Amino acid sequence: MEKQTVLILDFGGQYNQLIARRVRECSVYCEVHPYNKLCVSEIREMAPAGIIFTGGPNSVYADGAPRVDKELFELGIPVLGICYGAQLMTYVLGGKVSSAEAREYGKTETVFETESLLFRHLPREATTWMSHTDLIEQLAEGFRICAHTTNCPAAAIENPEKKLYGMQYHPEVLHTDNGTDMLKNFLYEVCGCKGDWTMGNYAQEAVEQLRGKIGEGKVLLALSGGVDSSVCAALLAKAVGSQLTCIFVDTGLMRKNEGNEVEAAFSQWGIQFVRVNAEERFLGKLAGVTDPERKRKIIGEEFIRVFEEESKKIGAVDYLAQGTIYPDVIESGIGDAAVIKSHHNVGGLPDYVDFKEIIEPLRLLFKDEVRQLGLALGLADYLVWRQPFPGPGLGIRVIGEITKEKLDLLREADFIFRSEIASAGLDRQIHQYFAVLTDMRSVGVMGDERTYDYTLALRGVTTTDFMTADFARIPYELLEKISSRIVNEVQHINRIVYDITTKPPATIEWE
Ligand code: XMP
Repeated sequence: MEKQTVLILDFGGQYNQLIARRVRECSVYCEVHPYNKLCVSEIREMAPAGIIFTGGPNSVYADGAPRVDKELFELGIPVLGICYGAQLMTYVLGGKVSSAEAREYGKTETVFETESLLFRHLPREATTWMSHTDLIEQLAEGFRICAHTTNCPAAAIENPEKKLYGMQYHPEVLHTDNGTDMLKNFLYEVCGCKGDWTMGNYAQEAVEQLRGKIGEGKVLLALSGGVDSSVCAALLAKAVGSQLTCIFVDTGLMRKNEGNEVEAAFSQWGIQFVRVNAEERFLGKLAGVTDPERKRKIIGEEFIRVFEEESKKIGAVDYLAQGTIYPDVIESGIGDAAVIKSHHNVGGLPDYVDFKEIIEPLRLLFKDEVRQLGLALGLADYLVWRQPFPGPGLGIRVIGEITKEKLDLLREADFIFRSEIASAGLDRQIHQYFAVLTDMRSVGVMGDERTYDYTLALRGVTTTDFMTADFARIPYELLEKISSRIVNEVQHINRIVYDITTKPPATIEWE
């Protein structure tokens, strides 16, 4: 391995992704592998700077509980076991783990021995996040306790001579005070990491690797204009320039100016950029359709058909590139699984595009790292900081039947909403915000005239993972300004409502 790598062995715990993220936050490159995929000799060959065992749902004594080979601890490679990982290390090295009388869960006051390298320069007392039933009852030979809580005498353990460490709590979650610093201490003080994982280096390395792999080959990418596919395109453009063809399907369901913005952004990169204006096709297929799931299906299928047709014109390519990112890799079973997932997320990939291999240049990066990489490659801020936009686009934000007229109304209203949020400086605080054109009409009065026009809904949410979300507390004054601008500037909208439901029970999109 050219750069220092930390190996994370996955025992099936719920925070595994977070551990990897924290290690990268410490500027150290890491790879997550299932605990049983690598044998000791393969690990020796990889020569990682350190190994971290994740937590896991099992008890070390359970039948079929994940185990590791004792030899792993004799390689001279530092190991940090977290929760199950710490118990397993103890068990394998001859200590004793037992069922705790009281299950410990949640924030727990913890006392640390600050002489330990793990807790160097950190406070003696702090809160940790515990989540366990079993605990370490008797240490393995050579170990000592370096942190304790009221119910857990061995909250952290160490054998500094052998560079083996364990934590019963979870340093990777934010509820543990200084958790990232503890991991950093393990990485820097124990493993001797230098912190050679920076986005600038990474971009350079990735470009060179892609050049080596692709050679003179041709690459095809479906560019949606979203963050992942844009960064993927920029990286490939830097690496292989004119060998890259990007197909951008303008479905007619994009936001105001979006198609032109994407085209403008990529026309200067020296790649072959194919824009397919397919609005009529999409609207034709969607005519009269009101059911949200049917809309999604139609849009997804049509997208694939258009992509296939265009790629046939290009002929055979060597590589089909995808903007799969690290969380997708982990979620789909870790490691070497080739994830075939369209970042359009509208119904899979074309079956018969003629390519030899899939390449996923972002598969080791988290979303925020993808953004940093985009910036390092010189992508414009507005592309890098784009809020998520669903594959079916405005098709699921016009409630009921979709027509060009309704889409145009929605585009104008949505544009005003987005511009005002950006002018108020709230565009990074509200994680997703958009307008929805409902199919409800109501009575209003404008001038001396009675109107009977559409109700527009505004939605703004804050969220960390888009699985749960809260509605954004947009100041009333700003809502007032947005409302008055929209009803004055956009015809056929005479009423604005703001969506104040959380997810669950509502979802972020209305359809
Ligand atoms: P929901 O509405 O399920 O949305 O709370 C969660 C996140 O997913 C996005 N979303 C989609 N993205 N295809 C996509 O690519 C879809 O069909 C789709 N539906 C919802 C939504 O914008 C939000 O960010």
